[in-house]
Amino acid sequence: MSSAPTTPAPTTGSIADERIRELRERREATLLGGGEKRIEKQHAKGKLTARERVELLLDEGSFEEWDAFVQHRCRDFDMDEQQIPGDGVITGHGLIDGRKVFVFSQDFTVFGGSLSEAYARKICKIMDTAIKVGAPVIGLNDSGGARIQEGVLSLGGYADIFLRNTLASGVVPQISAIMGPCAGGAVYSPAITDFIAMVEGTSYMYVTGPNVVKTVTHEEVTHDDLGGAETHTGRSGVAHFSTEDDGSCLALIRDLVSFLPLNNADDPPRKATDDPDDRQEARLDELVPADPQKPYDITDVISLIVDDGKFLQVHEGYAGNMVVGFARLGGRSVGIVANQPAVLAGTLDIDASLKGARFVRFCDCFNIPIVTFVDVPGFLPGTVQEFGGIIKHGAKLLYAFCEATVPKLTVITRKAYGGAYDVMSSKHIRGDVNLAWPSAEIAVMGAKGAVEIIFRNEIGSAEDKAAKEEELVALYKKRFANPYQAAEFGFIDDVIEARTTRPRLIRALELFETKRDRNPPKKHGNIPL
Ligand code: HXC
Repeated sequence: MSSAPTTPAPTTGSIADERIRELRERREATLLGGGEKRIEKQHAKGKLTARERVELLLDEGSFEEWDAFVQHRCRDFDMDEQQIPGDGVITGHGLIDGRKVFVFSQDFTVFGGSLSEAYARKICKIMDTAIKVGAPVIGLNDSGGARIQEGVLSLGGYADIFLRNTLASGVVPQISAIMGPCAGGAVYSPAITDFIAMVEGTSYMYVTGPNVVKTVTHEEVTHDDLGGAETHTGRSGVAHFSTEDDGSCLALIRDLVSFLPLNNADDPPRKATDDPDDRQEARLDELVPADPQKPYDITDVISLIVDDGKFLQVHEGYAGNMVVGFARLGGRSVGIVANQPAVLAGTLDIDASLKGARFVRFCDCFNIPIVTFVDVPGFLPGTVQEFGGIIKHGAKLLYAFCEATVPKLTVITRKAYGGAYDVMSSKHIRGDVNLAWPSAEIAVMGAKGAVEIIFRNEIGSAEDKAAKEEELVALYKKRFANPYQAAEFGFIDDVIEARTTRPRLIRALELFETKRDRNPPKKHGNIPL
């Protein structure tokens, strides 16, 4: 850490030397946190300390700590006799791949990482500064929640942070790592941030813990089942990444940051690649099965197209019928949104809509072009979906794509049916470049369903009903189960050989690099929440 002493302590005995010695002693004390015993306990749980985490997160030697000498002002419960410099949270700024970020790291060894008024002020200070200078905020959470001895002062501290999380939203990227407990109202700070990564086995998040749950609902549930990494990345969708341990969690955050601009006025970073821009990929021509009922894995398509096959999936364990994540094309960061035919045939359901909408909005906030791969048979039917509000949730995805003004490139690989065709970044909602593969079927619905409706009488009165239906399905397919009707109307800009997708997308990104588009002036829209 750059604030740590780097030269031997002076020994001449002058007043200046004394002062330097005192400063160094004081700083030394800040490094100890809650003391050796508690650090051992932390390690025994498989967790790193708050300082070790900061060291791993940031470029070596780049961390500059602020407020290391801050102390709480609580006088109740003999707290005035328990002062630990820094008061349980390490705050400051540093670099990731040479780019500036702000960080706070909650120190569980100090009062269980619980949040005091002074501690909250430290976090607010770095958030305010991050907004001013335009740099991401990364929060490493490991805390027993509100500092119980401080009462409402602590609650006020949380609210001060929530407010800043909200004001920073869409201005600088905010990333949360959950690396220990995160419970009660404290969960709402990470919840407002853009991404949450959790560590398997040692982290949990919940509004009320297992004991309260048991009292209120008589359910028996463990910490991990209620709020562990698997629960939140797989079931609730609260968290975006599940990681094995502290080290892999911090490495993932470094990787994530590499795709993002520092703020909403910045462009995403470009990363040089040896992968040629004009690389054609013959395997793509064969990847979509001829039978429209047969699944394939859209992540194979994505990997074959993007730079070096590198695709960082976000929310991988949640709503598998929608795939979202970051990749690069010709060195430029892109956000990828794709239907996944291998899960639920790629239908849009409530979870997929929420997952897609949140990701699209993130990309739009931060100037990251969106590349959408479409293979969607429609919205998922059923009472579960209708009663669950698929209308309002599906509308979120539609709204997100409609309002997005970043470059929007769309590739229809196979089905683009019904309302889902409109939703998935179609030309009609300001898609900039809309391409289709020859395997694309752009229609109101699948051929069989369509024929059963529009030719019901003809089929009913035919002698050989099956043969008649087959004939009409073939007719319908010829007319509609292809990309050419949409191409005739200019709803897609071109039908391309699948193998040329990478060069086409890279050229489109270059073309739209200077895109300027605006929504009408307003305070803010009213996304159907
Ligand atoms: C003050 C706390 C504390 C807290 C833990 N400690 N939580 N001190 N305020 N909230 C202290 C303990 O006294 C202990 O001190 C040390 O931290 C480690 O705690 P342990 O219990 O020994 O650790 P462990 O067994 O790992 O259990 C962790 C824990 C548990 C599950 C988080 O400590 C716990 O249940 N804490 C209380 C959680 C809680 O109810 N918080 C308030 C929630 S309400 P020593 O000196 O022994 O090391 C809330 C509202 C936020 O947060 C609202 C925002 C709007």
